[in-house]
Amino acid sequence: MSVLIAPSILAADFGNLQRDIEMINASEADWFHVDVMDGMFVPNISFGMPIMEVLKKHARKPLDVHLMIEKPERYLEAFRDLGAFQITVHYETCPHLHRTLQHIRSLGLKAGVAINPSTSVSVLENIISEADLALIMSVNPGFGGQKFIPFSLEKVGRLKELIITKASPALVQIDGGVNLETGAKLARRGCDVLVAGSFVFGSPDPLATIQELKKTVNQ
Ligand code: DX5
Ligand code: ZN
Repeated sequence: MSVLIAPSILAADFGNLQRDIEMINASEADWFHVDVMDGMFVPNISFGMPIMEVLKKHARKPLDVHLMIEKPERYLEAFRDLGAFQITVHYETCPHLHRTLQHIRSLGLKAGVAINPSTSVSVLENIISEADLALIMSVNPGFGGQKFIPFSLEKVGRLKELIITKASPALVQIDGGVNLETGAKLARRGCDVLVAGSFVFGSPDPLATIQELKKTVNQ
């Protein structure tokens, strides 16, 4: 399977959101990555339902929703209704993670679990079989444009081993500081999905940047 690219809409120009959505539609990107932040779990507020509605209306690729919010179980149905194909919740926000992942799957969605940079991969040992995706945060969640934390590469390797040991169907996703250089290293470690925000939208030609990233990580 080729390495998938999921541009983060957090880095889009919200004054020209439809234009940026159409750019992703026309690109080689695979998913839209949608970063929802509540100003509680993370020190920033991004956006919520109104932006999801715009995505639902115009996006022609799957909507991958990353909930950086406290008590995410309150909003699972709402994001399903707004067109999510997958919802990822944080290990750190879910005391009953098993129940929450099962809840997401019961809504007919793919269920993802994310871990912060300071959280060890080993906490996923008892839950990885219930997950369709495991997301390693390679920056502290809250803001785009941060520097990739190098230790994340080792975590990808460990997570891959765990997935194989447990015969889990989970894809490995990385989020934060992805560019051509980190992307190539991550692909070599077995990462399945790369989220990229500022690298894509901050470039002079986002369409060409997506194409270059996709080619580089699939060599
Ligand atoms: C960080 C978000 C990321 C972020 C990635 O909290 O989860 O998805 O938008 O942005 P870049 O690619 O700019 O590091
Ligand atoms: Zn994200």
